[in-house]
Amino acid sequence: MTIVKNLIIFVSLIIKIVSSEDTVESLENVINKAVQDSLNYVVPTDARRYKPKNTTIKDYGSYDFVIIGGGTTGSVIASRLSEEKNFTVLVLEAGEFANDGVLKIPKYAFTGWRSDYNWGFKSIPQTTACLGVVNNQCVYPRGRGVGGTTLMNGLIYDRGSPEIYNIYARHVGDDSWSYDNILKYFKKSENFHWTNPKAPVDLDYHGKGGLLDVQQQVPDIRLNELFLQANRELGIPIKDYNGREHLGGTIVQIYTRNGRRLDAGTAFVKPFLNRRNLKVLTSSYVTKIVFNERKVAESVIFTNRGNIYRVKASKEVILSAGSVSSPQILMLSGIGPRKHLKKLGIKVLEDLEVGTKFLDQPGTKNFMFTSTYPSSTQTLKQQIQDFLNGTGILTSATISQGDSFLRMLYKNRGLSDLEVICDLGSPGELDVKTVGWKNETYQELWGKNKLAVSFSLRHLYPISVGTIRLKSSDPYDYPLIDPNYLSDEKNEDIEVLYQGLQLVFRLAETPAFRKINMTYASGPLSACKEHPFKSKKYWYCFLRQVSLTAAHPVATCSMGRSRHSGAVVDSELRVFGVKGLRVADASVLPKLIDGHTAVPCIMIGEKISDTIKKRYTRRG
Ligand SMILES: Cc1cc2nc3c(=O)[nH]c(=O)nc-3n(C[C@H](O)[C@H](O)[C@H](O)COP(=O)(O)OP(=O)(O)OC[C@H]3O[C@@H](n4cnc5c(N)ncnc54)[C@H](O)[C@@H]3O)c2cc1C
Ligand SMILES: *[C@@H]1O[C@H](CO)[C@@H](O)[C@H](O)[C@H]1NC(C)=O
Ligand SMILES: *[C@@H]1O[C@H](CO)[C@@H](O)[C@H](O)[C@H]1NC(C)=O
Ligand SMILES: *[C@@H]1O[C@H](CO)[C@@H](O)[C@H](O)[C@H]1NC(C)=O
Ligand SMILES: *[C@@H]1O[C@H](CO)[C@@H](O)[C@H](O)[C@H]1NC(C)=O
Ligand SMILES: *[C@@H]1O[C@H](CO)[C@@H](O)[C@H](O)[C@H]1NC(C)=O
Repeated sequence: MTIVKNLIIFVSLIIKIVSSEDTVESLENVINKAVQDSLNYVVPTDARRYKPKNTTIKDYGSYDFVIIGGGTTGSVIASRLSEEKNFTVLVLEAGEFANDGVLKIPKYAFTGWRSDYNWGFKSIPQTTACLGVVNNQCVYPRGRGVGGTTLMNGLIYDRGSPEIYNIYARHVGDDSWSYDNILKYFKKSENFHWTNPKAPVDLDYHGKGGLLDVQQQVPDIRLNELFLQANRELGIPIKDYNGREHLGGTIVQIYTRNGRRLDAGTAFVKPFLNRRNLKVLTSSYVTKIVFNERKVAESVIFTNRGNIYRVKASKEVILSAGSVSSPQILMLSGIGPRKHLKKLGIKVLEDLEVGTKFLDQPGTKNFMFTSTYPSSTQTLKQQIQDFLNGTGILTSATISQGDSFLRMLYKNRGLSDLEVICDLGSPGELDVKTVGWKNETYQELWGKNKLAVSFSLRHLYPISVGTIRLKSSDPYDYPLIDPNYLSDEKNEDIEVLYQGLQLVFRLAETPAFRKINMTYASGPLSACKEHPFKSKKYWYCFLRQVSLTAAHPVATCSMGRSRHSGAVVDSELRVFGVKGLRVADASVLPKLIDGHTAVPCIMIGEKISDTIKKRYTRRG
């Protein structure tokens, strides 16, 4: 009897150790260490860590499908294709699986920006935005690892306006992209939990039972209520922005499970790693796609732990390396603008406008007001206790999660132009390092006020166009990212952000916010001292200083009707002019999403997996 009892105790002890249950102490250590590591991290400036030591190309066998990039979209495709027992699927991912620590904690996952989970890209020096950061180079966070950019993003579940998908459908001449036709894919991956009874929810538009848990943050906090009340007082309706209509004020829906972050790898890949037909090979950096003489994508070259390999794809290569790296890999493989490739000495296989159109949203963070809103008196230990119960401020990437999607200038009929996010707090030492703020920008705007209600603004549908180009023909060089924000000649883009600032001032003046005595308390910026403080010219100057990336880039491998219109892939995401190669990630969207991009990427993964399954199974 006692032997059995002891055995049970012993076994449960082992299980406990193996499953290393989170405790307040262990998580406190995880957080403190992540912050320290992040402060000390040396951000890479190229991909030379992946250079092979042995340059003899070794054979890595053959798979039906080789997916390049196990990111947001790639994770979904790997998951769905490997449901077919007949398919063999290989995922080549440069990074690793998510760690079991800080990346689970929504509030602290941004420490991952300064870690190996981020590529550490920066833009080329800018002249019309990012002027408040060192060298005028915007940081350009892109996730590296299984789950991709969802490893360190804001967790906001947002599809954008239904109308944007109808615009895509018309653009590409294929009604399967219209909102009515893709809604089923959004629903398929979603497992919606209505955790905040006060939040309006349009249940017809949500899915239940999918792999991605979606919920509202719990508990709701008072700042959220004030923000929504202020919206109402300005006549802005409060609604479910993922329902019939996108515009309005809202309580944000986030993809978390019991308050823990849910990246695409954890949601879509990890549960299926035991499938024998699925192999996820991390630490694998793809340098090139190889074509045969009939222009069929035949194999993929990648490096892994000092060696270089070639793997065959007997059915298809699926490129899911994201809006920055997918165009880079195509160009390295000879698919891109002829002039650019020739200049770099790359043999041209197909002359396509890869990377010629880079669309992204500029945003400003931390537009700050002092107030009488009480600061939290919770210690980190107490926050962790809440977190272990699935609630509290650690469960949210922003604290308040009050959000408005608004149409400002009415030039984009049916779409949203502006997003306003209400938050609590001000940038600290780590933010300064992460973003690279110039000392004077930081000191003048945020240095003196530690506790504040702050607003982030984003222009969701700007007209400025940037580019992705190669720096050289060397696959271990980072590509050149030029977002070119706020560069349109008529200043239409900056005007939307300016209108956004005016709106924030009107919100601050509402009875709801007057209760907490909101006072704009930043600046003036000496970089803008030639303009009277708070004049329109001052705000334009200010916006060019503080506007950074909202990190939602699309269109670098744009979907369209034909190659002659500048498109790179057709409506089934097949690259024009070659065979056996699709691109599937944010880069294929021909125009911006007037919202956030992760969930649309998950939808793309679901949709294209269906297309591919139909193509290669008898059922199709
Ligand atoms: C800070 C931040 C906050 C954000 N907040 C939100 C939000 O709240 N809500 C939202 O919806 N969206 C948000 N986004 C945007 C969203 O996360 C991305 O648009 C989306 O995840 C992109 O998915 P993807 O599949 O296109 O690429 P990714 O998810 O970036 O996947 C690409 C993958 O390819 C891999 N890869 C690249 N090159 C190679 C190579 N040569 N060899 C092998 N592998 C390679 C990468 O490591 C990566 O894993 C945010 C983004 C950032 C940066
Ligand atoms: C490189 O790898 C090949 C194949 O495994 C091996 O034969 C060769 O000796 C290696 N070269 C070096 C320099 O290690
Ligand atoms: C966490 O939840 C448990 C069980 O519901 C409860 O007893 C406990 O008081 C909660 N702790 C905190 C810190 O809220
Ligand atoms: C900014 O200030 C910090 C600390 O005061 C200092 O170490 C750093 O060199 C300064 N950077 C620049 C660019 O002036
Ligand atoms: C509101 O804030 C301003 C500026 O900080 C301050 O001068 C004023 O006394 C405050 N009023 C109240 C009622 O707190
Ligand atoms: C799977 O492969 C087997 C053997 O090649 C074949 O008989 C079967 O029809 C295939 N199934 C599907 C769904 O394609």
